[in-house]
Amino acid sequence: MKDTQAAETPSSLQDEIHHVNNPVLDLPQIEKKYLTQVTGYTREGHAFYFTDGRARVEVKIFSDEIIRVRLAPEGVFLADFSYAIAEMASAPTSYKIEETEEAYRISTARTTCFVRKSDFHISFGDALGQVINQDCKPMHWEENADFGGYYIYCTKSAPQDEVFFGLGDKASNLNLRGHRVKNWNSDTYSFAFNQDPLYKTIPFYLGVTEGNAYGIFFDNTFKTYFDFAAEQTDQTSFWSEGGELQYYYIQGPQLIDVVRRYHQLTGTHYLPPLWAIGYHQCRWSYYPEKMVRDVTTEFRKRQIPCDAIYLDIDYMDGYRCFTWNTKYFPDPRKMIADLAADGFKTVVMIDPGIKVDENYWVFQEGQAKNYFCRRGDDYFMEGFVWPGRCQFPDYTNPEVRTWWGGLYKGLVEDGVAGFWNDMNEPAVFGRGTFPDDVRHQFDGHRGSHRKAHNIYGMQMVRATYDGLKKLYRNKRPFTITRAAYSGVQRYSSVWTGDNVATWEHLRIGLLQLQRLSVSGLSFCGTDIGGFTGNPDGELYTRWMQFGVFSPFMRVHSAGDTRDREPWSFGPEWEAICKKFIELRYQLLPYIYTAFWQQHKFGDPILRPIAMLEQHIPKNLRREEEFAFGDHILISPVLNPGQTNKVVYLPKGTWYYYFNHQTFTGETEHQIDTPADEMPIFVRGGSIIPEYPIMQYTSETKIEELTLRFFFAEGRFDSFVYDDQGETFDYEDKQYAWHHFITESDTNSFKVSQLEEGHYIPYYKTYKFYLVGLAFNPQSIKVDGVVVAIQRDEAGDYIIVDRAFKKIIGQL
Ligand code: NOJ
Repeated sequence: MKDTQAAETPSSLQDEIHHVNNPVLDLPQIEKKYLTQVTGYTREGHAFYFTDGRARVEVKIFSDEIIRVRLAPEGVFLADFSYAIAEMASAPTSYKIEETEEAYRISTARTTCFVRKSDFHISFGDALGQVINQDCKPMHWEENADFGGYYIYCTKSAPQDEVFFGLGDKASNLNLRGHRVKNWNSDTYSFAFNQDPLYKTIPFYLGVTEGNAYGIFFDNTFKTYFDFAAEQTDQTSFWSEGGELQYYYIQGPQLIDVVRRYHQLTGTHYLPPLWAIGYHQCRWSYYPEKMVRDVTTEFRKRQIPCDAIYLDIDYMDGYRCFTWNTKYFPDPRKMIADLAADGFKTVVMIDPGIKVDENYWVFQEGQAKNYFCRRGDDYFMEGFVWPGRCQFPDYTNPEVRTWWGGLYKGLVEDGVAGFWNDMNEPAVFGRGTFPDDVRHQFDGHRGSHRKAHNIYGMQMVRATYDGLKKLYRNKRPFTITRAAYSGVQRYSSVWTGDNVATWEHLRIGLLQLQRLSVSGLSFCGTDIGGFTGNPDGELYTRWMQFGVFSPFMRVHSAGDTRDREPWSFGPEWEAICKKFIELRYQLLPYIYTAFWQQHKFGDPILRPIAMLEQHIPKNLRREEEFAFGDHILISPVLNPGQTNKVVYLPKGTWYYYFNHQTFTGETEHQIDTPADEMPIFVRGGSIIPEYPIMQYTSETKIEELTLRFFFAEGRFDSFVYDDQGETFDYEDKQYAWHHFITESDTNSFKVSQLEEGHYIPYYKTYKFYLVGLAFNPQSIKVDGVVVAIQRDEAGDYIIVDRAFKKIIGQL
């Protein structure tokens, strides 16, 4: 067949692929093939199979809002296997197929999919059939003469108003329109704005057009590309160098629902142990033991809260994983126990590179069991990393994962509480990563490194998590990974890698964390202060302020930088850092609740303004502000010497956190930004729970939970989650889930509480503050009994039994 449509395909798409793979430029002409006309369809289970006589296309209904499309150029699909997809609980309620002269129309209760007969264009729309996303070319492919399989392409229309979000850790503006990006996990020390690719592959994007949102998850582990109206201003394309053209269309219309549904597909993060969401102190590297003890002692002496101290690679013996350098750490067990007694968890680094050393037990075992990756011709994959010459486990082999998970036993017995998996892109000095010909078991679906590269890190941390889960028994592990693929959130938190101590990077971090959050990786953080280079006190402090509202809050820095502890920049900055770290601890119950909502419902923890008000076009382009959980809005200070900034507040009433001044929403405000404050706003109508300041999360039992009710007229919902903080008992409903409903008008307010779960918190009462009441209540009744209003320096409050059902306050 002659390629009649080749001229339409952007030439540079083709160039890019061929340049990447093949340095020889005089390639034979490769014929690009397109789906032609639909000749008919068959049906199996929840799937429809359309054909043009040769190729086949599967359209499978996963739920009312999730539909999968797959292409088999020669009619034979690859095995239906994915590392990304978790068990899908939901199923479609009902759906039907109708045929017209032009198209087949498959409809569920919420989504419609059209397959046009004349040219095989596939489009998606809402229940009424209003189209939101449509092909502007039929799916197409080219044979890959070097490796077999196909280069595969999908091209969709991009209406002029459409904006694009998602794709993981891309260091670009939030809206990806006008960008072409590539997914190939890369060790990118000191990366720059717009540098691409970085460490993670999350081939999931969200589009918003005419106020309607949808998502596309292109579940393909090969090197993938996305072009968001960059080459052709009215087209969006995604393509890959191999594997199957397989994507999930996810229906909105709300952005937050698209993220939730993406989580339904790929899973959520388990609830982390409470200590993992406290403040963490890291450095490359704290050693020897005396330095670790000095740093931790200093925290307690200065009364700056901290829950975890990290040991980077220098704790190991010659960078051999799962060993201790006994010169620096003569008695690690004792050190870890002493630290634990002082409220510090110890987290250590583990890399994938295993030193080639005949006398090293991990290498011996890996060799004996044939667990290391091999090249195409059977040689071992060898490369240099920290320990020198290394071999690398094939984590795509389930047996290797089980072995790897068990290797943590010794460190767990030593008392290590968390593990940090690094260099797992995989990174290899000099050559960057593995060559393409390295072979992988891929859970029985064998493939080359082309197929396994982007999931290597994910499978490493999966092995780590699964192993730890067994070793800790019922205790929740804590893991952190640098490389990732979609679905990694089931096993780990992530950080954004080797950033730089500049104001520009503070801004990049703000963009990356919002982007990661809407891409399914809510448990994310940056190296606060910047990994490489030296921040001054102001930058460090402003970053710390942003860090309070980063789901993962950790200071980390490279070995050749100056000290980075909160007190390293002098008393003035120390006082502000302390105040903000304390704020993190005060907000712990609120943050823990946001983590529960992430785990349970797939709610992103950071939500860009676009997610709050997607119907306002201007908001789709705001990127300096975000909601942190349900009720708090943050606008970090991103410039040196900045004394004020313009903050947009969505519809409603907002309270400035530090003085409770009220602001009206749906407009911009000029807000002062003194060094010891940052724009933090609380939505009127909400209830914010608070803990007293503690030096670490389990320091004291909470005697009384503070609840702050920020008054606003109308009806609002607030939630507070609580449990014992470190086991998986929450899976058996051992938690307390409080649902507060506030209903207020100009002369009364009512707060009702609904409860769920079997966990009984230690505290018996709430200290219930009334912030910004529009009237002076003549009476407040709690479950029918009049209570007295009391007052302290923080304002008016009442003491309420935590089992209360209804508070009614009236003029
Ligand atoms: C690279 C990581 O990104 C960084 O965080 C770490 O400190 C170094 N490797 C040394 O382990």
